[in-house]
Amino acid sequence: MKRIKLNILLNSDFSEKKVLIKGWVRTKRNSKTFSFLEINDGSTLKNIQVIADDKLENYSDIKKITISSGISIIGKIVKSLGKGQKFEIIASNIEIISLALETYPLQKKRHSDEFLRTIAHLRPRTNKYGAVFRIRSELYFAIHKFYRDRGFKYLSSPIITSSDCEGAGEMFKITTFDPYFTAQKNGLDIKNDFFGQETNLTVSGQLCAEMFAMALGDVYTFGPTFRAENSNTTRHVAEFWMLEPEMAFCDLNQNMDHGEELIKYLTNYVTEHCNEDLALFTKFVDKNLSKTIEIIINSTYERITYSEAIEIINKSGKKFKHIIQWGKDLQSEHEKFLADDYFKKPVFITNYPREIKPFYMRLNSDNKTVAAMDLLVPRIGEIIGGSQREERLNVLEKQMSKNKLSREKYWWYLDSRRFGSVPHSGFGMGFERFLMLITGINNIRDVIPFPRTPGSIDF
Ligand code: 4AD
Ligand code: MG
Repeated sequence: MKRIKLNILLNSDFSEKKVLIKGWVRTKRNSKTFSFLEINDGSTLKNIQVIADDKLENYSDIKKITISSGISIIGKIVKSLGKGQKFEIIASNIEIISLALETYPLQKKRHSDEFLRTIAHLRPRTNKYGAVFRIRSELYFAIHKFYRDRGFKYLSSPIITSSDCEGAGEMFKITTFDPYFTAQKNGLDIKNDFFGQETNLTVSGQLCAEMFAMALGDVYTFGPTFRAENSNTTRHVAEFWMLEPEMAFCDLNQNMDHGEELIKYLTNYVTEHCNEDLALFTKFVDKNLSKTIEIIINSTYERITYSEAIEIINKSGKKFKHIIQWGKDLQSEHEKFLADDYFKKPVFITNYPREIKPFYMRLNSDNKTVAAMDLLVPRIGEIIGGSQREERLNVLEKQMSKNKLSREKYWWYLDSRRFGSVPHSGFGMGFERFLMLITGINNIRDVIPFPRTPGSIDF
């Protein structure tokens, strides 16, 4: 007999049919001659109720079954009279595949997010985290579909690199040298290390994506990226996934159009394909989530310059922890103010001062600002960071000198400006930040399977 998964079983009518299901016990209730088991197999939020009666030959074992035991059930599907479930199953055979220990920590229904973080290996078994990670999985597919439908080519940029795309020096070093073996340390020569030069985990796939955009036109890279920034916030992790489209013959405005279309598409996709899981978040996690989603899908995103943003913030009369003046980077409190309070919808901030942005952004004619754009969204702040790229070789070289980047080292990057350089643009979208936006979850640690943050890597 072929096993059937609950997402299919519960969304069709198998009444009176005999089926085989497998899953884990979520709850159990014994009455005199019956046991009721709620079974979940991970394919959906919903459980199915299994009715086991004392005629089953191993009934005495079934009565003693523990929460989270793995079991296999053959039985007949019947329409349920109980509230909240359409079907249940009357078992004719139950096999206990594995009896879970009584010490299983998820016995009661509700646990704090903080506690669940300490058992990140078990939390996907709860309703909430099961829903998070099913949505996360659907979104991977949605992203590939979005790009494939628009003729983009997928590129897997390397994770190990010798570049520092963002120039912020927030890199994890890679080495086969043993840095703890201090006795030998002095004699170590980087030339003898695995790659013969300083190597790190990538902070962004952009530089590689730019090379491929000059070959394949429109490309995107989507993979893990790493930042060794020591900021313990609810929006930063050391390892996160970034989606990075890069488009040839594309200017800053088209870049923003693309970002807006992407965010709307993905949000819409989740509402259409993850309805059941999403309902959990609108009901239990964020009471305003439906409204936020409505705004994300239906509003036209505001577009203002950095200079305008500074003016709005300073004229607001609102007290901020950090004073902002032209030339300084926006802090998250300013970003939240703009998106949450002032515009109450997503807002693109463009044309930042060149000094606070990376070398590759296109210098504007005022010589002071670059063609950058950040998309700020309510509750989260920055979700997208991108720009039009500097395509003029001489300007780029000057910017690199200013940023103390060696032309020799980035010779390959400069080649793209030597051989058929055209205007091009792209951005990076933080995948976890998007998941926070769409689920109403407030801590980035709760939307990534095993979060990596300063001082914390238990799993
Ligand atoms: O603004 P960032 O640093 O941009 C870049 O890396 C560009 N090279 C992207 C490009 O143009 N191709 O990062 C892009 C986005 C941010 O807007 C944010 O959503 C997310 O990546 N991000 C992080 N997410 C989680 N944890 C962190 N430490 C993050 N740092 C950036
Ligand atoms: Mg940024």
